[in-house]
Amino acid sequence: MSDSYIQNLFADRIGGKSYGKSTVIYKFEKIKRARRAALAAHPGAEIIDLGVGEPDEMAFPEVVAKLHHEALQPENRGYSDNGDQVLKEAAAGYLEKVCGVPGLNPETEVLHSIGSKAALSILPAALVNPGDYVLMTTPGYPVFGTHAAYYGGRVHNLPLTEANHYLPDLESIPPAVLSQAKVLVINYPNNPTGAGATREFFTRVVAFAKEHRLVVIHDAAYAALVFAGKPLSFLSVPGAKDVGLELHSTSKSFNMTGWRCGFVAGNELLVSAYGDVKDNTDSGQFLAIQHAAAYCFNHPEITEKIAAKYSRRMSGLVDVLKKSGFNARKPQGSFFLYVAAPRAAVARGGRRVEFQNAEDVSQWLISEKLISTVPWDNAGANLRFSVTFLAKDPSDEERVLREVASRLEDVTFEF
Ligand SMILES: Cc1ncc(COP(=O)(O)O)c(C=O)c1O
Repeated sequence: MSDSYIQNLFADRIGGKSYGKSTVIYKFEKIKRARRAALAAHPGAEIIDLGVGEPDEMAFPEVVAKLHHEALQPENRGYSDNGDQVLKEAAAGYLEKVCGVPGLNPETEVLHSIGSKAALSILPAALVNPGDYVLMTTPGYPVFGTHAAYYGGRVHNLPLTEANHYLPDLESIPPAVLSQAKVLVINYPNNPTGAGATREFFTRVVAFAKEHRLVVIHDAAYAALVFAGKPLSFLSVPGAKDVGLELHSTSKSFNMTGWRCGFVAGNELLVSAYGDVKDNTDSGQFLAIQHAAAYCFNHPEITEKIAAKYSRRMSGLVDVLKKSGFNARKPQGSFFLYVAAPRAAVARGGRRVEFQNAEDVSQWLISEKLISTVPWDNAGANLRFSVTFLAKDPSDEERVLREVASRLEDVTFEF
């Protein structure tokens, strides 16, 4: 059958005339296919899913009750545009109480988002001209870079490795890139490495941004999911508000991925530009959801409870993986455990399987051990295990972790 004329109308940014014709299978699709094949080969078996990137539980009942109440209020029914004061004030209060960022003006320095993904897709329109560079960490969450490229921008990747403590080496940026760079995007606690930033690093980022006239976008999607101490906000560093924005979200911190609500805070001019583009992009999140999100930001103890659960699971998973030879160390936060992938696996009978990269290991783990993970081959071969696996309670968590241990028991990994 000949192509519909529509095939010739696609924009180059999504592949032009070749849109939809690529035969490349992307990572997450490969994982899905391997899961399906593993289930078909072992009907009824339990796949242990350590690959999920979102919470395993619902929002807390009091948040659902708040949504219900707010949804019944007639004044919440319409377009919310750039939002009312409720979430703005809760966000400013949260940043002050939880993150030690005093004095943000909720009127001018805070604006809601329909999740951080939406904000990361909107901001490039406000900042990126054709030819501009954006500096992104890799491995990482690519949305800002994807949209920057849609606008003709170029992405310069900064590798995160164990050697650099998963903090980008700002000095490594070639001068020709730096002179055309406009934006630095960072994310801590980090997906996928689980690494936390340090105050010194953020201080260096502020100085670097001022020296090279960069905007800094700190994606704090996992902000308060820390296993010790207080969350570290980029905005708590002196001068941060002169150079950038921080993005917070209820998705991971309050088990609300499907609700789509967060906020952008920081530099007034940047908040205003974000608001202008946002206003031409969406009509705002439902006010009932915004008000339920405000309730969350006024109740940070919810995140503390969630973080305590992940911390407990993380300790258990680290022990299990260490016994199997992985160089697993408990991260500072998030729900991700990032470990170097093995180069080979030797089964008890002596059968040896060699792996070319992390993707091979991940495929082997799902097909041979029915354990799902996410491979990252962007800066070395690594696997991401997530502690958002399904388990009813702490004793069920222990059962799942014992099951992982027993499935890996008959294998020796070579690194
Ligand atoms: C680093 C990072 N940023 C942003 C997001 C998206 O968050 P939200 O649900 O608020 O859009 C994710 C989701 O996986 C993420 O990992």
